[in-house]
Amino acid sequence: MRFTDKCVVILGGNAGIGLAAARQFAAEGARLALTGRNAETLHAAAEELGALAVRADMGDVGQTRAALGEIEAALGGIDVLFVNAGVGGFAMAPDVTEAFWDEIHTVNLRGAFFAIQQALPLMRDGGAIVITGSIGSVAAVPGNVAYAAAKAGLRAMARIVAKELLPRRIRVNLISPGPTDTEIFKRDATPEAIAGMKAMFAEVVPLGRMGTAEEVASAALFLASAEAAFINGVDLYVDGGCLELG
Ligand SMILES: NC(=O)c1ccc[n+]([C@@H]2O[C@H](COP(=O)([O-])OP(=O)(O)OC[C@H]3O[C@@H](n4cnc5c(N)ncnc54)[C@H](OP(=O)(O)O)[C@@H]3O)[C@@H](O)[C@H]2O)c1
Repeated sequence: MRFTDKCVVILGGNAGIGLAAARQFAAEGARLALTGRNAETLHAAAEELGALAVRADMGDVGQTRAALGEIEAALGGIDVLFVNAGVGGFAMAPDVTEAFWDEIHTVNLRGAFFAIQQALPLMRDGGAIVITGSIGSVAAVPGNVAYAAAKAGLRAMARIVAKELLPRRIRVNLISPGPTDTEIFKRDATPEAIAGMKAMFAEVVPLGRMGTAEEVASAALFLASAEAAFINGVDLYVDGGCLELG
């Protein structure tokens, strides 16, 4: 029960890694608020977990600000902020359009940064921020240029924000998942394409399989908890050994 009576906010908490984290935080006593875009899955998560669910597009800073205001009014100050919302997409460099680049960066980098900025006045000193990066920020994967650049930007941003927040003892860390079995890589893909991607990931991941949302979420909870009280500014690879052993 590492989060008893702690106010935990998960931006992007209604699916995949964020929902797995929401379940784990709730099981450990957190007072929970979630955001996302999909009203149906937000409602389902709120019902299941007794959480406050607020619909907000992280690509729209005004919506994030309003959601955080609603959360503060209902739950009070924030102890843990998990900035997890993100969108994927592949295009080789010659095919990257401005619209594609902006779609990825508006949520994954710009949206994440301004969410943190908006949340800071609501955060309690001594709290924790965890951000979902990606090993894609380091790995040279063809077709991943726009996404990788956004996630690398997150990593740079997190280190500086961590330093700026030292006087408030708010720790800022990243988790960087490797291939993880969630909807993010399945949307708009045929069953055959999904099976092909899973087989490919099983080959490239040293542990021989994709990670689960629960495994990645566990790492986020660790970094958010008092167990990680002396860990600040790190990027924790949760990737089955991809970056270090691949
Ligand atoms: N799965 C992987 O292999 C992998 C690897 C490395 C990094 N990651 C990162 O892990 C994070 C979680 O992804 P996932 O794999 O769990 O995928 P997912 O199942 O697609 O979940 C994505 C989450 O982000 C939310 N989200 C997306 N765009 C949003 C927006 N504009 N505003 C608010 N919420 C938004 C989604 O809510 P809605 O459904 O309501 O839009 C959902 O809760 C992302 O940052 C992703 O980049 C994933």
